[in-house]
Amino acid sequence: MQIRPLRRRRSVLYVPAVNAKALAKVASLACDCVVVDLEDSVAPSQKAEARDAVTAFFASREKDGKEMVIRINALSSEWGGDDLLAARECRPDAILLPKVETARDVLEANDVLDEADARASMWLWAMIETPRAMLNIGTIAELGRDRGARLACLVAGTNDLVKETGIRATPDRRYLVPWLMQMVLAARAGGLDVLDGVSNDFRDLDAFGRECAEAGNMGFDGKTLIHPAQIEPANSAFSPSQEEVDDALAIRAAFALPENGTRGVISLDGRMVERLHLDQAERLLAKAGL
Ligand code: COA
Ligand code: MG
Repeated sequence: MQIRPLRRRRSVLYVPAVNAKALAKVASLACDCVVVDLEDSVAPSQKAEARDAVTAFFASREKDGKEMVIRINALSSEWGGDDLLAARECRPDAILLPKVETARDVLEANDVLDEADARASMWLWAMIETPRAMLNIGTIAELGRDRGARLACLVAGTNDLVKETGIRATPDRRYLVPWLMQMVLAARAGGLDVLDGVSNDFRDLDAFGRECAEAGNMGFDGKTLIHPAQIEPANSAFSPSQEEVDDALAIRAAFALPENGTRGVISLDGRMVERLHLDQAERLLAKAGL
């Protein structure tokens, strides 16, 4: 089984595959990850053109350490099958499956990758954006524990959830939050990463900053973005503060002392610190590249 590497996914930018100008900009952007989109941002009449554009883009781009993902159309749609075959040939870091409703939907894509012996580190990400997906979230996320499955990350599709359920998209997201929390819980149960949905209003960066901070508090690993202006605020909101880094380093140093080598719990600056806090500190430091 391929071990899922710990990756920074603070800022995950969608780029419509048919927008050549936006694709050309990708190399200069400081996002952690790019999702080249064949689905919602591409009109039905442009689906074939978009597929060709993705192929050309992946064939010519210089690798720069960004995680590169392709979002295909749903396998149940008329374009999904061809998209998946084309995406597989592009050898992206991951393929994002939209409108996933059951674990079976993920396994079907998994089989297509296995058939061609795609490298084990070509991951699958799943959009959670329909009522059925929400009701099946536990079994979908459980695939994260499946030795043969490639599932690595869940992505909230908040626009589709609003559309499919009829809830109102209020600025405080009060009707979405219970489902978003359920996604975080399920992702953790499956050992998966989980990304918050997009903010459509890309001019209001104050509101965006608040939404990122909230998503960080809710446990999301990062946020999906639609515009370059959202990258910096997302990177900042999902990076640990200097105080958090210093605290994690202090916990690591304390447990590294010879006298604490076999202790499960220690006292550090007047508070109880257990080995579970050491695990948390190590995860924070790994995500910060320290
Ligand atoms: N990725 C890369 N570059 C982008 C971009 C994106 N998602 N969105 C905008 N840009 C670029 C533009 O090409 C423009 O480049 P320039 O300065 O060289 O001219 C620059 O950023 C400023 O863009 P701006 O004029 O502010 O926005 P716009 O009106 O061109 O585009 C959107 C607005 C919403 C149409 C566009 O941001 C977009 O398509 N976003 C992604 C939508 C998407 O993928 N949806 C599906 C997932 S929800
Ligand atoms: Mg969607």
